[in-house]
This record gives sequence, structure tokens and C-alpha cells, in this order.
Amino acid sequence: MKQILVIQSSARQNGSLSREYTANLVARLQAQHPEAKVVTRDLTAQALPHLDETLLNGWMKPVDQQTDAERAASERSNELVDELMASDVVVIGSPMYNFGITSTLKAWFDHVLRAGRTFKYTETGPVGLTPDRKVYVVTSRGGRHQGMPQDHQQPYITTALGFIGIQDVSFVHVEAQGLGEVEAGKGRAEAEKVLAGIAA
Ligand SMILES: Cc1cc2nc3c(=O)[nH]c(=O)nc-3n(C[C@H](O)[C@H](O)[C@H](O)COP(=O)(O)O)c2cc1C
Repeated sequence: MKQILVIQSSARQNGSLSREYTANLVARLQAQHPEAKVVTRDLTAQALPHLDETLLNGWMKPVDQQTDAERAASERSNELVDELMASDVVVIGSPMYNFGITSTLKAWFDHVLRAGRTFKYTETGPVGLTPDRKVYVVTSRGGRHQGMPQDHQQPYITTALGFIGIQDVSFVHVEAQGLGEVEAGKGRAEAEKVLAGIAA
């Protein structure tokens, strides 16, 4: 394995469960693959801009016809796509905010779901252009939402990754963290069991 890409999206640097469990998982993966380089993209420390007209225009033009601003915006997006493509394994730390992913992680998806690069449209529908690779998603949640209609996090992430060709996605949920000490402890124990299974 050459590269592990770690995406962090908690607004918190301190006390963040998604960061803690993501770090735990990455340590286990590194123990299995000491040769792998770990590249971290912290979407809180370095937030990505929302999509804007400059970037959307830049995506539609060949490089030699882009303005300087369109080229700069496209290059940022290209860098994110290249980083994803170069990584054998991706670990995403994803807190649930308001039943879905953080806006910072949504911005990352907006930059890497790129027609012509990570997927293409065909007469028979969209086709993913991203070679499949292992993605782990560590979610942290105040409540319990697995398999329930209000969970707009796991289905969204699964759909967005599947759309670009990535099917091999596993979730580690750290749930119930706002439900009191006993429930929070159970939520952590469940996550630790899943992590132990990954490392086995
Ligand atoms: C702005 C905000 C919105 C949240 N929305 C939800 C939610 O919709 N459902 C839920 O179960 N927990 C929600 N929580 C709780 C977080 O998911 C929980 O605190 C989680 O541990 C945050 O991730 P972190 O520890 O990595 O920062 C929310 C927390 C914040 C700060």
C-alpha cells in the first residue's frame, strides 16, 4: 500500500470523537502497512471554498482558455482529485451535524465529484471513473441513527462515493454520545469492536 488519505471534518480540534477514532483506525492501518504514507486533509484547518461561478466556468473550459482566477480555482479542485486518485485507502472522519455531513465535507465532495475526471455521463447514465478503493468512514453522533430515515449521512456518503466508482465503503459509527454516560459508553464500545474487526 502506497498512500492512506485521511479527511477530517470535525469543527473541533479538541475533544473530537471522529478525530480520535479516525486516528485509532489510521494507527491500526499503519501497523498493518508500515510502508504507507499518510496524507491528511483537515477541512477545518484549511476549509475549501464553496463552489462558485469562477470554478464552474473553469471546469467547462480547456486550460488555455481559462482566466487566471478560473485556472487557480480549477487547480485546487484538480489537486483534491489527484490526491484521492493517488490514495489506496481513504479514511473519512465525519461528525453528524443536523442529520447529515458537515458543510466542510460537503465542499470536499463538491470539488471531487467532477464530470470527466471522477465520473462521466453516457447515453446509459453516469459511470464512475474512479478506480474502486477501500474507504472507511468514521462517524460520530450525539444520537443513534443507523438505518433510520433521519440518517442523511451514511446514505449520502455511500451514494456520492458510489457515483464516482467507489463501492468498497465501510462505516464505523461512534453513536449515542449525547445520550448520557451509559449510552455513550455503549456507543464507544460498539465502535471499538468494529475497529478491532478491521485490524484483525
Ligand atoms: C452543530 C451540531 C449539530 C449536530 N447535529 C447532530 C444531529 O443531527 N444528530 C446527532 O445525533 N448529533 C448531532 N450533533 C452531535 C455530534 O454529532 C456529536 O457531538 C459528535 O461527537 C461530533 O463529532 P466530533 O466529536 O468529531 O466533533 C451535532 C453537533 C453539533 C455541534
